[in-house]
Amino acid sequence: MAAVASTVASCARAASSARVPSRRGAPGRLSRAAPAGAKSARGGSVVPSAFTPAGAKIAGVGMELPAQSLTNDDLASLVDTNDEWIRTRTGIGKRHVISGDESLTSLASGAAKKALAMANVDAKDVDLIILATSSPDDAFGSACTVQAEIGATGALAYDLTAACSGFVVGMVNAVHFLRGGEYQHVLVIGADALSRYVDWRDRGTCILFGDGAGACLLSKTEDPNDCCLLGFDMHSDGTGNGNLTAAFVSESNTQKTAKPTSESQTAASAVGAFANVQMNGQEVFKFAVRAVPDTLTKSLAKAGVSAEEIDHLVLHQANQRIIDGAAKKFGLGKEKVVSNIEKYGNTSAGSVPIAMAEAVAEGRIKPGDVVATAGFGAGLTWASAIFRW
Ligand code: ACO
Repeated sequence: MAAVASTVASCARAASSARVPSRRGAPGRLSRAAPAGAKSARGGSVVPSAFTPAGAKIAGVGMELPAQSLTNDDLASLVDTNDEWIRTRTGIGKRHVISGDESLTSLASGAAKKALAMANVDAKDVDLIILATSSPDDAFGSACTVQAEIGATGALAYDLTAACSGFVVGMVNAVHFLRGGEYQHVLVIGADALSRYVDWRDRGTCILFGDGAGACLLSKTEDPNDCCLLGFDMHSDGTGNGNLTAAFVSESNTQKTAKPTSESQTAASAVGAFANVQMNGQEVFKFAVRAVPDTLTKSLAKAGVSAEEIDHLVLHQANQRIIDGAAKKFGLGKEKVVSNIEKYGNTSAGSVPIAMAEAVAEGRIKPGDVVATAGFGAGLTWASAIFRW
Protein backbone atom coordinates (compact mmCIF):
# COMPACT_ATOMS: atom_id res chain seq x y z
CA MET A 1 0.00 0.00 0.00
CA ALA A 2 3.07 2.27 0.03
CA ALA A 3 2.40 3.18 -3.57
CA VAL A 4 -1.12 4.28 -2.67
CA ALA A 5 0.20 6.46 0.14
CA SER A 6 2.71 8.16 -2.16
CA THR A 7 -0.07 8.86 -4.62
CA VAL A 8 -2.21 10.52 -1.98
CA ALA A 9 0.78 12.73 -1.18
CA SER A 10 1.26 13.67 -4.84
CA CYS A 11 -2.48 14.34 -5.07
CA ALA A 12 -2.09 16.79 -2.19
CA ARG A 13 0.93 18.46 -3.80
CA ALA A 14 -1.06 18.95 -6.99
CA ALA A 15 -3.88 20.50 -4.98
CA SER A 16 -1.45 22.89 -3.24
CA SER A 17 0.07 24.01 -6.53
CA ALA A 18 -3.46 24.61 -7.83
CA ARG A 19 -4.03 27.27 -5.15
CA VAL A 20 -5.32 30.42 -6.85
CA PRO A 21 -4.75 33.60 -4.83
CA SER A 22 -7.01 35.83 -6.89
CA ARG A 23 -9.61 35.55 -9.62
CA ARG A 24 -7.93 36.07 -12.95
CA GLY A 25 -9.97 38.34 -15.16
CA ALA A 26 -12.08 39.62 -12.27
CA PRO A 27 -12.38 43.36 -11.69
CA GLY A 28 -9.17 44.97 -10.34
CA ARG A 29 -10.60 45.43 -6.85
CA LEU A 30 -11.06 41.68 -6.52
CA SER A 31 -7.77 40.70 -8.16
CA ARG A 32 -5.67 42.41 -5.48
CA ALA A 33 -4.74 40.18 -2.55
CA ALA A 34 -6.55 41.15 0.63
CA PRO A 35 -6.16 39.90 4.18
CA ALA A 36 -8.36 36.94 5.05
CA GLY A 37 -11.69 38.04 6.35
CA ALA A 38 -11.35 41.57 4.90
CA LYS A 39 -14.66 43.18 3.98
CA SER A 40 -15.54 44.93 0.75
CA ALA A 41 -17.30 48.28 0.66
CA ARG A 42 -20.60 46.38 0.37
CA GLY A 43 -19.78 44.28 3.43
CA GLY A 44 -18.99 40.96 1.66
CA SER A 45 -15.68 39.15 1.87
CA VAL A 46 -13.18 40.16 -0.83
CA VAL A 47 -11.18 36.95 -0.42
CA PRO A 48 -12.48 34.19 -2.65
CA SER A 49 -13.24 31.23 -0.44
CA ALA A 50 -12.80 28.81 -3.37
CA PHE A 51 -9.52 27.08 -4.12
CA THR A 52 -8.49 26.39 -0.57
CA PRO A 53 -7.25 22.84 -1.06
CA ALA A 54 -9.30 20.23 0.78
CA GLY A 55 -9.69 16.49 0.72
CA ALA A 56 -12.66 14.37 -0.35
CA LYS A 57 -14.20 11.16 0.92
CA ILE A 58 -16.97 8.78 -0.07
CA ALA A 59 -19.64 9.14 2.60
CA GLY A 60 -22.62 7.12 1.39
CA VAL A 61 -24.06 5.10 -1.48
CA GLY A 62 -27.54 3.98 -2.49
CA MET A 63 -29.45 2.36 -5.33
CA GLU A 64 -33.01 2.18 -6.67
CA LEU A 65 -34.58 -0.19 -9.18
CA PRO A 66 -37.99 -0.23 -10.84
CA ALA A 67 -40.48 -2.71 -9.42
CA GLN A 68 -41.11 -4.56 -12.67
CA SER A 69 -38.58 -6.95 -14.18
CA LEU A 70 -38.40 -8.76 -17.52
CA THR A 71 -36.74 -12.17 -17.82
CA ASN A 72 -35.02 -13.48 -20.93
CA ASP A 73 -38.00 -15.77 -21.44
CA ASP A 74 -40.30 -12.73 -21.38
CA LEU A 75 -38.23 -11.21 -24.20
CA ALA A 76 -38.30 -14.47 -26.13
CA SER A 77 -42.03 -13.88 -26.51
CA LEU A 78 -41.32 -10.52 -28.17
CA VAL A 79 -38.34 -11.25 -30.43
CA ASP A 80 -36.56 -14.26 -31.90
CA THR A 81 -34.16 -14.98 -29.03
CA ASN A 82 -33.73 -17.36 -26.13
CA ASP A 83 -32.41 -17.47 -22.58
CA GLU A 84 -29.36 -19.53 -23.50
CA TRP A 85 -28.18 -17.13 -26.24
CA ILE A 86 -28.60 -14.07 -24.04
CA ARG A 87 -26.84 -15.62 -21.04
CA THR A 88 -23.97 -17.02 -23.10
CA ARG A 89 -23.33 -13.87 -25.18
CA THR A 90 -23.99 -11.25 -22.46
CA GLY A 91 -24.36 -12.81 -18.99
CA ILE A 92 -27.78 -11.17 -18.58
CA GLY A 93 -30.66 -13.12 -17.01
CA LYS A 94 -33.22 -10.34 -16.42
CA ARG A 95 -33.55 -6.56 -16.22
CA HIS A 96 -35.84 -4.04 -14.50
CA VAL A 97 -37.96 -1.55 -16.47
CA ILE A 98 -39.94 1.45 -15.28
CA SER A 99 -43.73 1.33 -15.31
CA GLY A 100 -46.69 3.19 -13.85
CA ASP A 101 -45.66 6.33 -11.95
CA GLU A 102 -41.96 5.49 -12.00
CA SER A 103 -39.68 7.95 -13.77
CA LEU A 104 -36.03 8.86 -14.11
CA THR A 105 -36.59 11.38 -11.34
CA SER A 106 -38.16 8.84 -8.98
CA LEU A 107 -35.34 6.33 -9.52
CA ALA A 108 -32.60 8.93 -9.07
CA SER A 109 -34.30 10.43 -6.01
CA GLY A 110 -34.72 7.02 -4.38
CA ALA A 111 -31.02 6.22 -4.81
CA ALA A 112 -30.02 9.71 -3.61
CA LYS A 113 -32.11 9.49 -0.43
CA LYS A 114 -30.43 6.18 0.48
CA ALA A 115 -26.93 7.61 -0.10
CA LEU A 116 -27.79 10.59 2.13
CA ALA A 117 -29.20 8.30 4.82
CA MET A 118 -26.03 6.17 4.82
CA ALA A 119 -23.89 9.31 5.09
CA ASN A 120 -26.21 10.74 7.76
CA VAL A 121 -26.25 14.04 5.84
CA ASP A 122 -29.36 16.23 5.56
CA ALA A 123 -30.44 16.94 1.97
CA LYS A 124 -30.48 20.65 2.83
CA ASP A 125 -26.70 20.51 3.37
CA VAL A 126 -25.94 19.25 -0.17
CA ASP A 127 -24.18 21.93 -2.26
CA LEU A 128 -24.23 20.27 -5.67
CA ILE A 129 -26.11 17.48 -7.44
CA ILE A 130 -24.61 16.00 -10.60
CA LEU A 131 -27.08 13.71 -12.34
CA ALA A 132 -25.39 11.51 -14.96
CA THR A 133 -28.09 10.40 -17.38
CA SER A 134 -28.94 10.06 -21.07
CA SER A 135 -32.65 9.59 -20.47
CA PRO A 136 -33.97 12.55 -18.43
CA ASP A 137 -37.70 13.07 -17.96
CA ASP A 138 -37.33 16.43 -19.68
CA ALA A 139 -35.00 17.60 -22.45
CA PHE A 140 -33.87 20.39 -20.12
CA GLY A 141 -32.69 17.79 -17.63
CA SER A 142 -33.93 16.06 -14.48
CA ALA A 143 -31.35 17.10 -11.88
CA CYS A 144 -33.56 19.96 -10.67
CA THR A 145 -36.62 17.76 -10.25
CA VAL A 146 -34.44 15.36 -8.24
CA GLN A 147 -33.29 18.33 -6.16
CA ALA A 148 -36.91 19.27 -5.45
CA GLU A 149 -37.92 15.67 -4.73
CA ILE A 150 -35.21 15.10 -2.12
CA GLY A 151 -35.42 18.61 -0.63
CA ALA A 152 -31.85 19.69 -1.41
CA THR A 153 -32.92 23.32 -1.33
CA GLY A 154 -29.38 24.75 -1.17
CA ALA A 155 -27.91 22.78 -4.06
CA LEU A 156 -27.07 23.65 -7.63
CA ALA A 157 -28.28 20.71 -9.72
CA TYR A 158 -27.38 19.87 -13.29
CA ASP A 159 -27.38 16.94 -15.71
CA LEU A 160 -24.23 15.43 -17.17
CA THR A 161 -24.50 13.41 -20.37
CA ALA A 162 -21.66 11.00 -21.05
CA ALA A 163 -23.74 7.83 -21.55
CA CYS A 164 -22.42 4.81 -19.66
CA SER A 165 -19.26 6.71 -18.63
CA GLY A 166 -21.36 9.43 -16.99
CA PHE A 167 -21.17 8.29 -13.38
CA VAL A 168 -17.37 7.90 -13.37
CA VAL A 169 -17.00 11.31 -15.06
CA GLY A 170 -19.42 12.78 -12.48
CA MET A 171 -17.39 11.35 -9.59
CA VAL A 172 -14.19 12.90 -10.95
CA ASN A 173 -16.03 16.24 -11.38
CA ALA A 174 -17.36 16.05 -7.83
CA VAL A 175 -13.97 15.37 -6.27
CA HIS A 176 -12.54 18.41 -8.06
CA PHE A 177 -15.31 20.64 -6.67
CA LEU A 178 -14.62 19.33 -3.17
CA ARG A 179 -10.85 19.59 -3.45
CA GLY A 180 -11.28 23.20 -4.53
CA GLY A 181 -12.61 23.75 -1.03
CA GLU A 182 -15.84 25.54 -1.91
CA TYR A 183 -18.35 22.72 -1.43
CA GLN A 184 -18.98 20.48 1.57
CA HIS A 185 -21.25 17.78 0.10
CA VAL A 186 -21.70 16.74 -3.53
CA LEU A 187 -24.20 14.12 -4.62
CA VAL A 188 -23.38 12.18 -7.79
CA ILE A 189 -26.21 10.13 -9.27
CA GLY A 190 -26.02 7.75 -12.22
CA ALA A 191 -29.50 6.96 -13.53
CA ASP A 192 -31.00 5.78 -16.78
CA ALA A 193 -34.27 4.50 -18.15
CA LEU A 194 -33.15 3.44 -21.61
CA SER A 195 -36.17 1.14 -21.85
CA ARG A 196 -37.84 4.34 -23.12
CA TYR A 197 -35.58 4.38 -26.16
CA VAL A 198 -35.26 0.67 -26.84
CA ASP A 199 -36.89 -0.78 -29.93
CA TRP A 200 -38.58 -3.83 -28.47
CA ARG A 201 -38.55 -5.44 -31.93
CA ASP A 202 -34.73 -5.26 -32.18
CA ARG A 203 -33.19 -8.35 -30.60
CA GLY A 204 -29.72 -6.86 -30.97
CA THR A 205 -30.43 -4.17 -28.35
CA CYS A 206 -33.65 -4.91 -26.41
CA ILE A 207 -32.05 -7.80 -24.55
CA LEU A 208 -29.26 -5.62 -23.17
CA PHE A 209 -30.73 -2.64 -21.37
CA GLY A 210 -32.41 -2.24 -18.00
CA ASP A 211 -33.42 0.78 -15.91
CA GLY A 212 -32.01 1.78 -12.55
CA ALA A 213 -30.14 4.36 -10.50
CA GLY A 214 -27.25 4.52 -8.08
CA ALA A 215 -25.94 7.45 -6.06
CA CYS A 216 -22.86 8.41 -4.09
CA LEU A 217 -22.48 11.25 -1.60
CA LEU A 218 -18.98 12.70 -1.48
CA SER A 219 -17.96 15.00 1.36
CA LYS A 220 -15.12 17.44 1.89
CA THR A 221 -12.41 16.61 4.40
CA GLU A 222 -10.21 19.36 5.81
CA ASP A 223 -6.92 17.54 5.12
CA PRO A 224 -5.92 17.76 1.43
CA ASN A 225 -3.90 14.55 1.94
CA ASP A 226 -7.16 12.74 2.63
CA CYS A 227 -8.37 12.18 -0.96
CA CYS A 228 -10.53 9.23 -2.03
CA LEU A 229 -9.68 9.72 -5.73
CA LEU A 230 -6.23 8.26 -6.32
CA GLY A 231 -6.09 8.55 -10.11
CA PHE A 232 -8.32 8.93 -13.16
CA ASP A 233 -8.30 8.90 -16.96
CA MET A 234 -11.12 10.11 -19.26
CA HIS A 235 -11.61 10.22 -23.06
CA SER A 236 -14.05 10.88 -25.89
CA ASP A 237 -13.94 9.98 -29.58
CA GLY A 238 -16.79 11.51 -31.56
CA THR A 239 -15.60 9.87 -34.77
CA GLY A 240 -17.13 6.66 -33.40
CA ASN A 241 -20.43 8.32 -32.52
CA GLY A 242 -22.42 6.48 -35.20
CA ASN A 243 -21.78 3.13 -33.53
CA LEU A 244 -24.26 3.84 -30.74
CA THR A 245 -26.99 6.45 -31.08
CA ALA A 246 -30.50 7.52 -30.10
CA ALA A 247 -30.54 10.49 -32.44
CA PHE A 248 -33.01 13.37 -32.44
CA VAL A 249 -35.16 13.18 -35.55
CA SER A 250 -36.96 16.30 -36.67
CA GLU A 251 -40.07 16.17 -38.78
CA SER A 252 -41.74 19.27 -40.16
CA ASN A 253 -45.47 19.25 -39.62
CA THR A 254 -46.05 22.36 -41.67
CA GLN A 255 -48.13 20.30 -44.10
CA LYS A 256 -50.59 19.50 -41.33
CA THR A 257 -51.10 23.05 -40.12
CA ALA A 258 -52.09 26.36 -41.64
CA LYS A 259 -49.58 27.77 -44.09
CA PRO A 260 -46.76 29.47 -42.11
CA THR A 261 -46.43 33.17 -42.71
CA SER A 262 -42.76 33.47 -41.77
CA GLU A 263 -39.56 31.44 -41.64
CA SER A 264 -39.55 31.41 -37.83
CA GLN A 265 -43.09 30.09 -37.79
CA THR A 266 -42.00 27.22 -40.03
CA ALA A 267 -39.21 26.32 -37.62
CA ALA A 268 -41.50 26.61 -34.61
CA SER A 269 -43.98 24.16 -36.06
CA ALA A 270 -41.39 21.44 -36.60
CA VAL A 271 -41.88 18.43 -34.35
CA GLY A 272 -39.39 15.74 -33.50
CA ALA A 273 -38.39 13.01 -31.09
CA PHE A 274 -35.44 10.89 -30.15
CA ALA A 275 -35.15 7.72 -32.20
CA ASN A 276 -34.68 4.24 -30.75
CA VAL A 277 -31.24 3.07 -29.65
CA GLN A 278 -29.23 1.88 -32.62
CA MET A 279 -26.00 0.01 -31.99
CA ASN A 280 -23.28 -1.64 -33.99
CA GLY A 281 -22.74 -4.24 -31.27
CA GLN A 282 -19.60 -5.79 -32.65
CA GLU A 283 -17.83 -2.44 -33.08
CA VAL A 284 -18.81 -1.28 -29.58
CA PHE A 285 -17.65 -4.63 -28.21
CA LYS A 286 -14.25 -4.30 -29.92
CA PHE A 287 -13.94 -0.70 -28.68
CA ALA A 288 -14.77 -1.73 -25.10
CA VAL A 289 -12.35 -4.66 -25.03
CA ARG A 290 -9.57 -2.29 -26.15
CA ALA A 291 -10.53 0.87 -24.22
CA VAL A 292 -11.29 -0.54 -20.76
CA PRO A 293 -7.90 -2.17 -20.04
CA ASP A 294 -6.17 0.81 -21.65
CA THR A 295 -7.88 3.44 -19.49
CA LEU A 296 -7.54 1.34 -16.32
CA THR A 297 -3.82 0.91 -16.99
CA LYS A 298 -3.47 4.70 -17.27
CA SER A 299 -5.48 5.39 -14.09
CA LEU A 300 -3.50 2.81 -12.12
CA ALA A 301 -0.23 4.36 -13.32
CA LYS A 302 -1.39 7.86 -12.34
CA ALA A 303 -2.51 6.53 -8.96
CA GLY A 304 0.74 4.65 -8.45
CA VAL A 305 -1.35 1.58 -7.68
CA SER A 306 -0.47 -1.87 -9.01
CA ALA A 307 -3.09 -4.29 -10.35
CA GLU A 308 -2.44 -6.58 -7.36
CA GLU A 309 -3.46 -3.76 -5.04
CA ILE A 310 -6.98 -3.58 -6.52
CA ASP A 311 -9.47 -4.96 -4.00
CA HIS A 312 -12.56 -4.60 -6.22
CA LEU A 313 -13.03 -4.15 -9.96
CA VAL A 314 -16.33 -2.32 -10.60
CA LEU A 315 -16.84 -1.93 -14.34
CA HIS A 316 -19.80 -0.74 -16.39
CA GLN A 317 -22.07 -3.77 -16.61
CA ALA A 318 -22.52 -4.03 -20.37
CA ASN A 319 -21.42 -7.57 -21.12
CA GLN A 320 -19.97 -10.24 -18.80
CA ARG A 321 -17.44 -11.12 -21.49
CA ILE A 322 -16.07 -7.54 -21.41
CA ILE A 323 -15.83 -7.66 -17.59
CA ASP A 324 -14.13 -11.09 -17.65
CA GLY A 325 -11.66 -9.95 -20.34
CA ALA A 326 -10.58 -6.94 -18.29
CA ALA A 327 -10.31 -8.97 -15.07
CA LYS A 328 -8.14 -11.53 -16.84
CA LYS A 329 -5.90 -8.82 -18.26
CA PHE A 330 -5.16 -7.54 -14.73
CA GLY A 331 -4.91 -11.02 -13.20
CA LEU A 332 -7.92 -10.45 -10.93
CA GLY A 333 -9.81 -13.48 -9.61
CA LYS A 334 -13.62 -13.69 -9.42
CA GLU A 335 -13.56 -12.67 -5.74
CA LYS A 336 -12.31 -9.22 -6.79
CA VAL A 337 -14.80 -8.69 -9.61
CA VAL A 338 -18.15 -7.05 -8.86
CA SER A 339 -20.79 -8.26 -11.31
CA ASN A 340 -24.57 -7.98 -11.11
CA ILE A 341 -25.29 -7.92 -14.85
CA GLU A 342 -27.19 -11.21 -14.49
CA LYS A 343 -29.89 -9.43 -12.42
CA TYR A 344 -30.02 -5.94 -13.90
CA GLY A 345 -28.57 -5.94 -17.44
CA ASN A 346 -26.96 -2.74 -18.74
CA THR A 347 -28.39 0.18 -16.76
CA SER A 348 -26.08 2.65 -18.56
CA ALA A 349 -25.04 5.50 -16.19
CA GLY A 350 -26.69 3.58 -13.35
CA SER A 351 -24.58 0.46 -13.61
CA VAL A 352 -21.35 1.45 -11.81
CA PRO A 353 -23.05 3.10 -8.80
CA ILE A 354 -25.59 0.27 -8.51
CA ALA A 355 -22.74 -2.27 -8.50
CA MET A 356 -20.89 -0.15 -5.90
CA ALA A 357 -23.92 0.27 -3.67
CA GLU A 358 -24.75 -3.43 -3.80
CA ALA A 359 -21.16 -4.46 -3.03
CA VAL A 360 -21.15 -2.10 -0.04
CA ALA A 361 -24.52 -3.42 1.20
CA GLU A 362 -23.21 -6.99 0.91
CA GLY A 363 -20.17 -6.05 3.01
CA ARG A 364 -17.76 -6.69 0.15
CA ILE A 365 -16.46 -3.12 -0.29
CA LYS A 366 -15.15 -1.88 3.07
CA PRO A 367 -13.45 1.31 4.26
CA GLY A 368 -9.83 1.45 3.09
CA ASP A 369 -10.37 -0.83 0.06
CA VAL A 370 -8.99 0.15 -3.35
CA VAL A 371 -11.82 0.19 -5.91
CA ALA A 372 -11.03 0.38 -9.65
CA THR A 373 -13.95 1.65 -11.75
CA ALA A 374 -14.47 2.20 -15.47
CA GLY A 375 -17.34 3.23 -17.70
CA PHE A 376 -17.59 3.19 -21.50
CA GLY A 377 -20.21 3.64 -24.16
CA ALA A 378 -21.98 6.07 -26.44
CA GLY A 379 -20.20 9.22 -27.51
CA LEU A 380 -17.95 7.36 -27.73
CA THR A 381 -16.76 7.99 -24.19
CA TRP A 382 -14.67 6.01 -21.74
CA ALA A 383 -13.35 6.82 -18.31
CA SER A 384 -11.80 5.14 -15.31
CA ALA A 385 -11.02 6.13 -11.75
CA ILE A 386 -9.25 4.48 -8.81
CA PHE A 387 -10.79 5.19 -5.41
CA ARG A 388 -9.69 4.55 -1.85
CA TRP A 389 -13.01 3.72 -0.11
N1 ACO B 1 -30.80 -13.64 -29.77
C1 ACO B 1 -30.40 -14.58 -30.65
N2 ACO B 1 -29.55 -14.31 -31.67
C2 ACO B 1 -29.09 -13.04 -31.77
C3 ACO B 1 -29.48 -12.03 -30.88
C4 ACO B 1 -30.36 -12.37 -29.85
N3 ACO B 1 -30.80 -11.47 -28.94
N4 ACO B 1 -28.86 -10.89 -31.22
C5 ACO B 1 -28.10 -11.17 -32.30
N5 ACO B 1 -28.27 -12.48 -32.64
C6 ACO B 1 -27.64 -13.21 -33.73
C7 ACO B 1 -27.21 -12.31 -34.86
O1 ACO B 1 -28.27 -12.08 -35.75
C8 ACO B 1 -26.10 -13.12 -35.48
O2 ACO B 1 -26.68 -14.13 -36.27
P1 ACO B 1 -25.98 -14.56 -37.67
O3 ACO B 1 -24.63 -15.12 -37.26
O4 ACO B 1 -26.91 -15.56 -38.21
O5 ACO B 1 -25.88 -13.29 -38.47
C9 ACO B 1 -25.46 -13.81 -34.26
O6 ACO B 1 -26.43 -13.81 -33.23
C10 ACO B 1 -24.22 -13.13 -33.76
O7 ACO B 1 -24.50 -11.70 -33.67
P2 ACO B 1 -23.44 -10.71 -33.14
O8 ACO B 1 -23.97 -9.32 -33.26
O9 ACO B 1 -22.13 -11.03 -33.80
O10 ACO B 1 -23.35 -11.13 -31.61
P3 ACO B 1 -22.27 -10.73 -30.56
O11 ACO B 1 -21.59 -11.91 -30.07
O12 ACO B 1 -21.42 -9.57 -31.04
O13 ACO B 1 -23.17 -10.19 -29.36
C11 ACO B 1 -23.82 -8.12 -28.37
C12 ACO B 1 -24.00 -9.06 -29.54
C13 ACO B 1 -24.22 -8.85 -27.12
C14 ACO B 1 -24.70 -6.90 -28.58
C15 ACO B 1 -22.33 -7.71 -28.27
O14 ACO B 1 -21.88 -7.27 -29.52
C16 ACO B 1 -22.07 -6.61 -27.25
O15 ACO B 1 -22.21 -6.83 -26.06
N6 ACO B 1 -21.64 -5.46 -27.73
C17 ACO B 1 -21.22 -4.37 -26.82
C18 ACO B 1 -22.41 -3.64 -26.25
C19 ACO B 1 -21.92 -2.64 -25.23
O16 ACO B 1 -20.93 -2.86 -24.57
N7 ACO B 1 -22.56 -1.54 -25.07
C20 ACO B 1 -22.02 -0.59 -24.08
C21 ACO B 1 -22.46 0.68 -24.28
S1 ACO B 1 -24.14 0.92 -23.85
C22 ACO B 1 -24.36 2.63 -23.80
O17 ACO B 1 -23.46 3.38 -23.90
C23 ACO B 1 -25.73 3.17 -23.67
